[in-house]
Amino acid sequence: MWSRRLDALKPALEALDQWRAAWPDDAADPLMQVDEDRLGQVLAELARRLQGNYPFHSPLYAGQMLKPPHPVAWMAHVLASTINPNNHALDGGPPTSEMEKEVVADLARLFGFRTHLGHLTSGGTAANLEALWVARETHPGKAIAFSDQAHYTHARMCAVLGVESVVIPTTADGSWDMSVLKASAHRIGTVVVTLGTTGMGRVEALHELLPFCRQAGLRVHVDAAYGGFYKLLEASGALDAAPWALTGAVDSLVVDPHKHGLQPYGCGCVLFRDPAVGRHYKHDSPYTYFTSDELHLGEISLECSRAGASAAALWATWRLLGGGTDSGLARMLAACRRAALAFAAALEDSGTYAVVDAPDLDIVVYHPRPTGARRLSDLSAASKAVFRKGMQAGPDQLFLSLYQLPASRFAGYGLEADADTVTVLRSVLMKPGHEGYATELAARLVRLLSHVERDALGQG
Ligand SMILES: Cc1ncc(COP(=O)(O)O)c(C=O)c1O
Repeated sequence: MWSRRLDALKPALEALDQWRAAWPDDAADPLMQVDEDRLGQVLAELARRLQGNYPFHSPLYAGQMLKPPHPVAWMAHVLASTINPNNHALDGGPPTSEMEKEVVADLARLFGFRTHLGHLTSGGTAANLEALWVARETHPGKAIAFSDQAHYTHARMCAVLGVESVVIPTTADGSWDMSVLKASAHRIGTVVVTLGTTGMGRVEALHELLPFCRQAGLRVHVDAAYGGFYKLLEASGALDAAPWALTGAVDSLVVDPHKHGLQPYGCGCVLFRDPAVGRHYKHDSPYTYFTSDELHLGEISLECSRAGASAAALWATWRLLGGGTDSGLARMLAACRRAALAFAAALEDSGTYAVVDAPDLDIVVYHPRPTGARRLSDLSAASKAVFRKGMQAGPDQLFLSLYQLPASRFAGYGLEADADTVTVLRSVLMKPGHEGYATELAARLVRLLSHVERDALGQG
């Protein structure tokens, strides 16, 4: 229980209270005082309002990329937040800036970067924006290419940066249409490869794309916002190691600790292999950078204020659970991967659902088998009905997400192609507890579909 964790946090809060006691404390100012009863009421009201959330902590939440942080992360975050350091400059947070540099160096090592420049960001969007901005600065006038499976942020950020984007179509198995990449290579400066796509968790073939890009003189950026921490399983045999083996050779890489790194939101990371790209960030600040001649993180970041608490949380988590191939984090990821395989197998065994493709990581995309369907839209309707039925209170309650695939993926189904896309079900199994629930989730899905069919008969 989370409330029990306060016992572990208390001594650390007391240690900070002692440190604070050496100075007059603004918290003691009468204007900062509040009525304790009123405080209790507001917090109780907040706790009540927060219960309107879906149960992201539960294995029965098998929907979007959402889960609570590890307790060590929120405890470290809370502890640092009582000070509220700002990692923009060493003037604003010397210890948490140091922690950020340490943990960013750990991440650079994890991905195999021999040299690096990098920092934490508010999330994957800001981190990718920086990587694409550096791509524009190093390859002015050139386009940025990414596959049709890349996160929508890449097209959006290219528009923000005024850079042309080239979308490379993928085949049903997720491979890039290399003829399009080759034909456009003369106008492209940078290629974005996604290790862990948002929709299906696909790991794109970096081992095939990187040699081509090097030969064509193209810069390579890896968006591993979702999948990045699976690098920890590279040598485990649980994944195809080939794409992961090359992460150390790319020009830049994004990973989101607030996805699979057990962090609260507000923690992304961008890494560059060549520290010299720091020249693009070069600027001066009339307000900051005065307390030290060491690197101030604001000098290599587009965002100005950034929470030192995020760095503290990631640093503490990494010390406790990160790092090696047998670390707590690696074992959690291995459990998520096993959960996805077991869930996909249980769905197929049920005879009621079809899995769209074997999962590369821990995201499973599936739909009710099209028995009785005549049109593609019937398939979408069945997935949406199961999704909605799952959210209703009851013994089979289950929280899922939906995903749209191009109709061409269903060409062999013999259904009337009455829509351009088909809506299917999607489950992100990003909690280790999903492993023990894999068969239960599939069993609930089978029952949910029979409830949906029964409801339809009742209405018919
Ligand atoms: C592959 C990928 N890139 C980028 C993003 C955007 O990251 P954020 O939501 O942290 O801004 C996501 C988010 O799901 C993602 O999956």
